Amino acid sequence: MAPSIRRFNWRRDKETVLQFQYETYERNFPSFRVDEAFLRDYEQQLRMAARQPAERLWVLEDGSEVCGFVWAALITTMIDRCLGYIKNVYVSPQWRGQGYGQKLLSIAEQWCRDAGAEKAALDASVNNEEAMAFYQRAGYQVTRLRMEKPIVDIPGR
Ligand SMILES: CC(C)(COP(=O)(O)OP(=O)(O)OC[C@H]1O[C@@H](n2cnc3c(N)ncnc32)[C@H](O)[C@@H]1OP(=O)(O)O)[C@@H](O)C(=O)NCCC(=O)NCCS
Repeated sequence: MAPSIRRFNWRRDKETVLQFQYETYERNFPSFRVDEAFLRDYEQQLRMAARQPAERLWVLEDGSEVCGFVWAALITTMIDRCLGYIKNVYVSPQWRGQGYGQKLLSIAEQWCRDAGAEKAALDASVNNEEAMAFYQRAGYQVTRLRMEKPIVDIPGR
């Protein structure tokens, strides 16, 4: 059965969406490990977002199994009065490469547009080459770079 997209339901979907975060966070932040404290915090963020009119979440569902997720928020910055911010997008490995990530992104962008945003933005890690290719294919361009350097010596690294 081809997966379809519906609104996120915190009680019903939170466990699966939390499981997605291992891959997402550990791929984007290679030295980071998802732990209990992170999952508890993320669960609360999902709970608040699901009640917030300025945030919207959807899941991709294959029969009764959740196999993807997207989270969008409307934010105000010094530059943009109303900016659509894509906080997270995920597709389960077995459904990748079939356009579902793009479908999730399109639904999130449409919601942002309908709410008055003229632009969508997101953050991506340069080491996550698949996600960079995915976002570029969807029309996102790099406009700013976050640059980092270690300023202390950490033994073993
Ligand atoms: C990134 C992700 C959401 C893409 O989902 P997907 O359903 O596979 O993407 P789509 O099938 O909609 O791909 C759309 C386009 O993106 C590009 N793309 C997607 N996956 C790619 C990959 N692994 N390598 C290169 N390009 C890729 C392709 O150009 C593709 O279009 P095409 O197939 O016509 O060439 C998915 O790989 C994922 O969940 N990754 C783990 C979580 C993650 O890193 N999320 C991003 C957080 S910043």
